[in-house]
Amino acid sequence: MGDTLLLGSSETELQIAANVLRQGEIIGIPTETVYGLAANACDPSAVAKVFAAKGRPADNPLIVHLAFFEQAKKYTTRIPPLAYKLAERFCPGPLTMVLPKNDSIPMITSGGLDTVGIRIPSHPIMHRLLEIADIPIAAPSANTSGYPSPTSADHVMQDMDGKIYAVVDGGESQFGVESTVISFEDESRVRILRPGCVTKEMLLEVCEDVIIDPAILNELAPGQKAASPGMKYKHYSPRADIIMVESTAEEFQRYVGEHYSDGVYALIYTGDEEGFPYRHLTYGCDSSEQAHFLFARLRELDEIGAERVYVRAPSADGVGLAVYNRLIRAAGFEVIRI
Ligand code: TXA
Ligand code: MG
Repeated sequence: MGDTLLLGSSETELQIAANVLRQGEIIGIPTETVYGLAANACDPSAVAKVFAAKGRPADNPLIVHLAFFEQAKKYTTRIPPLAYKLAERFCPGPLTMVLPKNDSIPMITSGGLDTVGIRIPSHPIMHRLLEIADIPIAAPSANTSGYPSPTSADHVMQDMDGKIYAVVDGGESQFGVESTVISFEDESRVRILRPGCVTKEMLLEVCEDVIIDPAILNELAPGQKAASPGMKYKHYSPRADIIMVESTAEEFQRYVGEHYSDGVYALIYTGDEEGFPYRHLTYGCDSSEQAHFLFARLRELDEIGAERVYVRAPSADGVGLAVYNRLIRAAGFEVIRI
């Protein structure tokens, strides 16, 4: 054990967490998507500690969390009317809007970009912390860069114990995958840079058109510019080699059988385990459950010593697109289609 404090969510403990953040330290915090690694977004040296603790590339910007969307005015130069409409419908919640930043957000926080991702988290503990601390909180997911995002305080400890001041325990994250990140194309259209639990279909209730950035499902060509820097990097990967197999349950079982050996595991849908004769874990029976459990299962596979994991590919519809996007990256774009 390192010396990272584990804090509960009492008012006294949140006061401690808020003070520590205001003094320039960094801490793990719960949100409804995944756990974040929090720093005062306006304090360059605090933000530098986040990049160091994660081993994160300096050009990958951090999301800035606020208690209320109205506060975004303080950190941006222009908020399109469509952003207010989206905020009315989806904030607080798992949506990040990329907006032009002003000088109060330091360049280190925005990874050198002139934009900032703004998110209003709905987790009550995170909301309370934002209110008490009364500062904008920059927070990437609290994993070591490249590793699956943490969905419990325990996961944050696995990656950050001894590297950060404290972790606030807020229980298991509700959604399990990170927020939907969008940018604005024009006054009526948005582009999804990272899919999450606010889906294309939900955004279409407010926007005329929703573009899915091609980098969500396809590997960037060498030298191609990423709309979101995070799309350049290998992500969400456990130590085990992940191979995604798009097929029926029957074909999947046959395929695993043909490739079975020491260290091989399967990650299958809940409901398909009866009579499945190979070492396996399940990750839920529908897209929401799969989103909730995916990262925890990827970590568990490492713990049990899996070397190669065949994953039955999730549906890419609705929330499924978020799950599919994380897995295809974890797999380094290796997909077997049967
Ligand atoms: O649900 C979430 O969004 C979690 C919780 C903690 O809020 N945070 C999170 O942060 O997932 P992070 O840093 O792990 O992922 C942020 C993603 C990265 O892919 C980054 O490149 C992109 O959002 N992003 C952030 N700011 C951006 C900007 N100004 N322009 C384009 N992409 C941006
Ligand atoms: Mg992340």
